[in-house]
Amino acid sequence: MAFNALTSEKPNAVCMPFPAQGHINPMLKLAKLLHFKGFHITFVNTEFIHKRLLKSQGPNSLNDLPTFRFETIPDGLPPADANVAAQHMPSLCQSIRKHCLQPLRGLLSKLNSSPNSPPVTCVVSDGIMNFSLDAAQELGIPGVIFWTTSACAFMGYIQYGPLIQKGLVPLKDASYLANGYLDTVIPSIYCIGPLYLQLDHIPADNELKSIGSNLWTEETECLQWLDSKEPNSVVYVNFGSSTVMTSEQLTEFAWGLANSNKAFFWVIRPDLVGEGKSVVVAPEFVEETKGRGLLASWCPQEQVLSHPAIGGFLTHSGWNSTIESVGGGVPMICWPFNADQQTNCRYCCSEWGIGLEIEGDVKRYYIEGLVRKLMEGEEGKKLRKIALEWKKLAKEATTGSNGSSFLDLDQMVNRVLLSPR
Ligand code: UDX
Repeated sequence: MAFNALTSEKPNAVCMPFPAQGHINPMLKLAKLLHFKGFHITFVNTEFIHKRLLKSQGPNSLNDLPTFRFETIPDGLPPADANVAAQHMPSLCQSIRKHCLQPLRGLLSKLNSSPNSPPVTCVVSDGIMNFSLDAAQELGIPGVIFWTTSACAFMGYIQYGPLIQKGLVPLKDASYLANGYLDTVIPSIYCIGPLYLQLDHIPADNELKSIGSNLWTEETECLQWLDSKEPNSVVYVNFGSSTVMTSEQLTEFAWGLANSNKAFFWVIRPDLVGEGKSVVVAPEFVEETKGRGLLASWCPQEQVLSHPAIGGFLTHSGWNSTIESVGGGVPMICWPFNADQQTNCRYCCSEWGIGLEIEGDVKRYYIEGLVRKLMEGEEGKKLRKIALEWKKLAKEATTGSNGSSFLDLDQMVNRVLLSPR
């Protein structure tokens, strides 16, 4: 099924991520898997994001392969400095909805008349970029919506109020997701995650491995530092790409970690503290935690979470972070910030048994207590045991010929993306 039987050209999938880190990462993984299955890929970034990727990944990293191309469209916002880490989300969403369909149409028509790429045969669109499906429909080609957050969070988005009133959430068991529940709202659903585990099917020396999607440069020294630590001894702390906190909260987290006496690896983004303030880490904290604390501003998170030294993850409960933690068998302390994160946190802590929630204000004694509970208490041991069971399930879903996610990806490709025009 790799090539179009009539033209012997590769099918060309236009992949349209929402322009934010937590959405670009999964879309790039899906694009790699599709490429591995024989597709030509056209990966469409906004100009702002593409500039940032070029800066963090290096200028030659994004257009190496003749069959995996990057294109850009404007997001409709005034030109911004590429050093700026993030755009204002509500303005970005509004602008995209208003301004992006037209440039996308222009891009599709340019691609269709280009001698350098096969005609566009399908569109894979992030759930927030669903205008891309209008463009696909106009061309009479198939499209899929790629929903990058959890199924539970998606249900929450569209029906939270009524579902709670009717007593239908929390779900009673997993069959409610797969059979007759979600699929009464959306007729064709393919559950294809965790994608980073599916990527294990692509051999390590494949050229796709060189294409990265991080918007900050990864500091990889942490991996050697972790090599020097005992198994399950380090708390990993990272709040993703867009969470912001106050300087007071940062200080409380810092002293909570210091007072726990546990080893920790803490990623502090330069823009983690809101209102344009720069992050200040007290020298006393650095001195106090010398030798057992490591700070960085961005890291290779998937590798960190699958490192044996990591025993717990203090996280904002972004969906990518959550599934990467599940894939690493690492239990969590959850401090959700916005969007789907409260739902993810609830499932980790109340349903799946792999997390402890930070409730109420961030206070150092409370953080210290939770870190100790997770890293040395009986409850922590229990959470770790359950997390390892989830890890096994995640692996099974993506492995071999019987994994549910593995099979669903194939079915999405064959039944939708390669369906005849
Ligand atoms: C956003 C939303 O906040 C999240 O709730 C939603 O589910 C997806 O979009 P973000 O806040 O960035 O994402 O969190 P998350 O979903 O966890 O994604 C962060 C990604 O960046 C992960 O894939 C993680 O591996 C990567 N990352 C993060 C790194 O590679 N290095 C880091 O230091 C931090």
